[in-house]
Amino acid sequence: MSSTRRRRPIVAIDGPAASGKSTTARAVADALGFQHIDSGALYRAVTLIALELPEPPERWRAEELVTRARALGVSLARSSAAGALEVMVQGRSVGERLRGDAVTREVSRVAALGPVRDFVNGLIRAAAPDGGVVLDGRDIGTAVFPDAEVKVFLVADPEERARRRLAERGSTPDAMGVRAEADALVRRDERDASRDVAPLVRAPDAVLLDTTALSFEQQVRAIVDLARQRAPSLDRTGGGG
Ligand code: DC
Repeated sequence: MSSTRRRRPIVAIDGPAASGKSTTARAVADALGFQHIDSGALYRAVTLIALELPEPPERWRAEELVTRARALGVSLARSSAAGALEVMVQGRSVGERLRGDAVTREVSRVAALGPVRDFVNGLIRAAAPDGGVVLDGRDIGTAVFPDAEVKVFLVADPEERARRRLAERGSTPDAMGVRAEADALVRRDERDASRDVAPLVRAPDAVLLDTTALSFEQQVRAIVDLARQRAPSLDRTGGGG
């Protein structure tokens, strides 16, 4: 938690569900020549393995989930020497399996458990000992790296977020579908914002970026520019400038 003597800056991107954090964070990381860590994917991986338990979700116990996550090797690693950090389970990248409906439905419950958060945060901090990372999540700027040099809180209108999420899944969104998806997103945000441990909240020193009317390129550019202002030591020869 305390200010570490990192060699390179940390960029923390937090915000509600489907605000475009992960794709934006990945592009910002590419532009700065940094690694990207999607912290939500780690909570999703713990949820994925919890779903294999015989007990129903209301009977999941935090310690048991963490023991199981350790035993099954939930971790962050590169699948190739030059590759991006990916979420692994039993030595294999789990990728798209993390995006399924069952995982999405239960992940807020798992992310509300203190021991699970400690486990995930341990993996994240171990993967970024020297900085040089862009992380996205809900509590990166408040709890995981409160001393991050660059903090952004990314928001967008719920219906716009719902449209983007549905388009990402390849469906052609109609008005009813958009409303239902927006409701589900808002419910998940409420659960994430009302939990006791590290709730979804904007850090006082995070820059609020509303992306409702921004193109993807504009939002990436806004964060890259901010990072270069806040952390002048950044390599200016990196892309995106
Ligand atoms: O960003 P996402 O939808 O993949 O996140 C999945 C869930 O994990 C979401 O409901 C909130 C939770 N989460 C969290 O509590 N803290 C983080 N740093 C990242 C995600």
